[in-house]
Amino acid sequence: MSQQPKESKAWGGVFTVDTDHRVELFTESISFDKRLYEQDIRCSIAHANMLRGVGLLTDKEFAKIENGLLTIKRSIEDGTFEYSVSLEDIHMHIEHKLIEMIGDTGRKLHTARSRNDQVVTDLRVWVRGAIEHIDLRLLELQRAFVGRCDSDFDVIIPAYTHTQRAQPVIAPHYWLCYCEKFERDRQRLADCRKRVNVLGLGAAALAGTSLPIDRHYTAELLDFDAVAANSLDVSSDRDFVLEFAFDLTQIALHLSTLAEEWIYWSTFEFNFIRCPQSFCTGSSIMPQKVNPDVLELIRGKTARVVGSLQSLIVLTKGLPLAYNRDLQEDKEPIFNAFDTVNAALSLAAPLVADATLNRESIAERLEFGYLDATAFMEYLIQRGVPQRTAHGIVGKLVRRAMNQNLPLAKLSIDEFREVCGDIDDNVYNYLGAKNAVEVMQSYGSTSPKQVREQIEIWKKRVEESC
Ligand code: ARG
Repeated sequence: MSQQPKESKAWGGVFTVDTDHRVELFTESISFDKRLYEQDIRCSIAHANMLRGVGLLTDKEFAKIENGLLTIKRSIEDGTFEYSVSLEDIHMHIEHKLIEMIGDTGRKLHTARSRNDQVVTDLRVWVRGAIEHIDLRLLELQRAFVGRCDSDFDVIIPAYTHTQRAQPVIAPHYWLCYCEKFERDRQRLADCRKRVNVLGLGAAALAGTSLPIDRHYTAELLDFDAVAANSLDVSSDRDFVLEFAFDLTQIALHLSTLAEEWIYWSTFEFNFIRCPQSFCTGSSIMPQKVNPDVLELIRGKTARVVGSLQSLIVLTKGLPLAYNRDLQEDKEPIFNAFDTVNAALSLAAPLVADATLNRESIAERLEFGYLDATAFMEYLIQRGVPQRTAHGIVGKLVRRAMNQNLPLAKLSIDEFREVCGDIDDNVYNYLGAKNAVEVMQSYGSTSPKQVREQIEIWKKRVEESC
């Protein structure tokens, strides 16, 4: 990056000396806000168009500005645009170049606008696009889960509480559990978008402008749903950035839970799942290793996303109104959080689609761990035994089975009846993992009938949201 002479500073009028180069290096944001170039140019064209509409620019002036901005856009995209730290940020770069290209007409673009409302508007357009992008990635991931439901329908897996075997569920119940989580993430994004999609431009520095602008027209041109009603609010707040950062954090946390489970599911000890080899990496010293590094990094990179949210919270704590330069520090965390979640999601979808369930290994141990004990207890409840009593009876019988190292279904009817005379042969229809799943009835349960209905709902849902 080259150094520009002092007179090139848009705000240089009142200054009598050059900015210290160390200050330029410290205060610049071009190194990271250049990724807002597209949003900046789009907003500037809309702003100029509005200025023409209210008579602050002629048609000819608008055409010159628009052409100039589009030429700048092309030069940024083909890599010929020159950056310089002395021009601070993307807004100054583009405006400076425009003036260099078209002269005095370019000096009119910043009419009724300040960088304070400009940057927040660019960022709102960027966040809006980022929300749409992440939403699509979440949909791809949901499709990957739904896509396995039919082929895995007959697989029963143990589900856990406290990482101890608890009750059996069918595999699609587990897949759809994640679909629900990511659906809530999508709903949160849609809700966040409502608050993001509000036009700030025209608030100028903080007080609005005495010029006869038409902010509703600018909003229409930029596809904003509303116009911010208080100019002081516009440049002072980044709540929409924090909200998006939280939504990204929640997605990262959901992904991290999935990653954590699959990491231990792919251990020798569990051997429930095998990740595609193309998604694993090896060890430089232990030749036998095939490690789930992608999953570990999906889990590990969650730290960055949480850190970004944390930075934004601390950044805005106690900031007085209205714009403060601190707010420039909003961009790197939100870009980082977005990039991280975007990358994690783009790997999670193929991983979910292509991982193999080790059916034999899961089935081999399914009758261990007394996954059917709760179904057994409910069998007793249906026969009129109070829940607490039924719990105690089953506990005793589990202990008896444990002592013989047998599953419950291997106890004889006499052994059952010794502990509780209410038990009849029908008990065997509740015992064993398969029966324990099949006797389920409640809405939302892992009953195959309920899950089948949910799969059909989900199939429609992921198709419809194309
Ligand atoms: N680069 C700045 C930012 O990201 C733009 C706004 C600067 N405004 C100002 N008055 N210095 O926040």
